[in-house]
Amino acid sequence: MKKRLSTLERGYYWKYNLHKTKVLLFPNMGNFAIIMSMNKKRLVSGIKPSGRPHIGNYFGAMRQFVNLQEIHDSFIFIADYHALTTLQNRSEMSENIIEMAIDYLATGLDPEKVTLYQQSTISYHTELAWIFNCLTTMPYLMRAHAFKDSEAKNKEINVGVFDYPILMAADILLYDAVVVPVGQDQKQHIEIARDTAEKFNNTFGETFVLPEPLILENVKTVTGTDGQKMSKSYGNHIPLFATDDEIKKLVMSIVTDSGSSVPENVKALHLLFKNKKEVEKIYSDKEGKYKELKEALIEDMIAFIAPLRENRLKFEKDKGEVVNILKKGSEKANEIAQRKMKEVKEKIGVLLS
Ligand code: ADP
Ligand code: TRP
Repeated sequence: MKKRLSTLERGYYWKYNLHKTKVLLFPNMGNFAIIMSMNKKRLVSGIKPSGRPHIGNYFGAMRQFVNLQEIHDSFIFIADYHALTTLQNRSEMSENIIEMAIDYLATGLDPEKVTLYQQSTISYHTELAWIFNCLTTMPYLMRAHAFKDSEAKNKEINVGVFDYPILMAADILLYDAVVVPVGQDQKQHIEIARDTAEKFNNTFGETFVLPEPLILENVKTVTGTDGQKMSKSYGNHIPLFATDDEIKKLVMSIVTDSGSSVPENVKALHLLFKNKKEVEKIYSDKEGKYKELKEALIEDMIAFIAPLRENRLKFEKDKGEVVNILKKGSEKANEIAQRKMKEVKEKIGVLLS
């Protein structure tokens, strides 16, 4: 019979964390853990500080940042220059940046394990984006879904919206990212980053790593209260740090299809907060009782969100410390980005020896 290894023998163990998801932990920093940390894959991702994060952002992206921080060399940033394409208000921008940093920390990102920084503090992102611009054709970028959607809504879009995927390619390629956790809506942007890396490598020689998106099948598109993709800009979102009253109001406002016995969109949301078996039981016990099903979801959502909200309060009290964390993160990110940019400048022939 196979012998069950103890935690000590294995060198690691799985544990359910604050978010009720399994994470890999290394209790004793023995040889095994050191080997693991040497082989850690580089992970890069960011979120725009364009408003309060919602449960779509959390399950689609932010939760992966937390769960993967033990076994990846993670660079997580606040995409403020991307937000500038739509958010052009000084006080709102500064406030959102600090709030976003607090949100990251409150979800469980550990600044000892993750390099946490503000995109705009590393000028290499925009510098590399310019170099990529010179390798990218207009017709290629015109095929991007996000550009086409924005243009359909407003013909007078700014150049930043058009060039958005190239700045994003720079964010990722500058750090030799291997893994990029995002929601489904960002898939094409990661493909553009890969194409850009290939274009540069073919023109100037092997320089950039081709990144892979990490999109989890069951949470790739979380739906909002109206049944469409949840988004800050559609006004259909449930904030990740919502108060109990907001949760009650928003869940009760979820639009359901009265023709079926199971409100599929309510059930899909419920599956984010409870395991499948328990959700199935609730749905068979309360079949057709939409109000009760929503009440059950409210209860589970509150049980999940309340501890996150509590955790957030701790960081809100010390904004000075949060700013320090961002500064430290920027210093580390800057060193890595600087090295890469030197290589890039050498390759394109602008660095004279
Ligand atoms: P929003 O559309 O609300 O402005 P962002 O563009 O700031 O969201 O997205 C931040 C991260 O959250 C990205 O990785 C994005 O793919 C992910 N994300 C956003 N909305 C959803 C959703 N409804 N379901 C799953 N992931 C999402
Ligand atoms: N475009 C992403 C979003 O809307 C944010 C982002 C900017 C990003 N740069 C990135 C995500 C680099 C991953 C990697 O959510």
